[in-house]
Amino acid sequence: MATSRVCVLFVVLYTTLAEDVKLKYKPSTTPVRLFTEEELKRYDGREEGQPIYMAVKGVVFDVTKGKEFYGKDAPYNALVGKDTTRAVAKMSLDPADLTSDTTGLDEEQLESLESVFEGTYKRKYPIVGYTASRILNEDGSPNEDFKPEDQPHFRIKDEF
Ligand code: HEM
Repeated sequence: MATSRVCVLFVVLYTTLAEDVKLKYKPSTTPVRLFTEEELKRYDGREEGQPIYMAVKGVVFDVTKGKEFYGKDAPYNALVGKDTTRAVAKMSLDPADLTSDTTGLDEEQLESLESVFEGTYKRKYPIVGYTASRILNEDGSPNEDFKPEDQPHFRIKDEF
């Protein structure tokens, strides 16, 4: 029948076009996961068997394999479930330093932060996302200058 022929033609045409659109479409940036403070707090090592995340400079790392450092009752557990850039920069576990605020850090502390960020965190732990402060501007609009960190020795962990 003519109607069924038209139907078949339509389906063939539709799938061909859809395939074409799919192949041509390339996202301009790699999608990344944004963590709010509340979300990051869930991964503070309290629950046995759950992943442990912490952020340094707004970059969220999966530090689960360092459970002996970061897990419940481990020496650096205070650093996880949040962005603790200041504590890492100062090598301090003082509660006042358990924050992302880098105000007033001296040259030596900033250098130490860079070396621990690159040499320990980026080298050892896979990146799973970024905090809002890194991805968004203060008014909540996307930060056009945002660039995901390069971590070629890890495959991107698909959490979507
Ligand atoms: C008496 C004081 C301390 C001693 C003896 C000590 C000792 C250590 C040791 C033995 C390691 C392991 C190195 C390795 O095997 O890879 C380590 C790593 C580390 N320490 Fe300390 N530490 C002290 C204080 C602190 C403080 C106050 C901080 C605060 C932030 C800190 C942060 C870290 C971090 C972030 C690592 C890297 C852990 C990782 O590889 O994920 N440490 N420390």
